[in-house]
Amino acid sequence: MTDHLSTPFPPEWREIADHFMAMRFRYQSALREVQTKLEILDDEFQMRHSRNPIHHMESRIKQPDSIIQKLRRKGLPLTPEAAMENLHDIAGIRVVCAYLNDAYTIADLLCSQDDIRLLQTRDYIRQPKPNGYRSLHLIVEVPVFMSTGKQLVPVEVQIRTIAMDFWASLEHHLRYKETSDVPDELNSQLFEASEKIAALDQDMQHIHDQMLEWVSKHT
Ligand code: GTP
Ligand code: MG
Repeated sequence: MTDHLSTPFPPEWREIADHFMAMRFRYQSALREVQTKLEILDDEFQMRHSRNPIHHMESRIKQPDSIIQKLRRKGLPLTPEAAMENLHDIAGIRVVCAYLNDAYTIADLLCSQDDIRLLQTRDYIRQPKPNGYRSLHLIVEVPVFMSTGKQLVPVEVQIRTIAMDFWASLEHHLRYKETSDVPDELNSQLFEASEKIAALDQDMQHIHDQMLEWVSKHT
């Protein structure tokens, strides 16, 4: 019987595997850096204002097959170098806030840190996508200190409200289904729901602001 542990790993595979592991480690470390920064901002806000602007966070590293798919789609070489140079969403973190203004506060506080470089902002809250998608997207570059020196690593930060997140997770099921023909009726229901969500987010912000004002006058 062959013991799979003693089967030699083909050397060309070893090189690819090592390269891939190093790349993954770099993005995982960058995610930790950004996540820690956001946790500290959230904790400090709690200390100063007795509430947390961040409801929760999720992070992910893009799967190898999605990286390959995106490189193909962009007509780029299928190499780790091409991925690192051209894809800025290999490391992604989603920040879900309760209130609309908190999304902008968190973005401003993160981007004002002097080791963070803002590479791109796409404000799909002020300019929603035609389907109704809303979220504030930033690409930031963060330094990661390795034994070999400093590496600057891009991280995609998606900031949105709980309500926008609720909508996006439902819509995601449609968007990423292989079947292309989504009935118009479903698309228009989703669009209408997105408009209601935007109005609800504004109402909740307004009520929250008034509550804070009322509480500050009565305490
Ligand atoms: P991708 O190739 O999808 O990464 O798009 P992009 O690099 O041009 O950036 P874009 O800002 O359009 O989208 C980045 C990410 O935001 C996506 O990978 C999704 O996670 C999210 N996103 C963007 N548009 C939508 C949308 O219409 N619906 C949902 N559910 N998510 C979206
Ligand atoms: Mg993307």
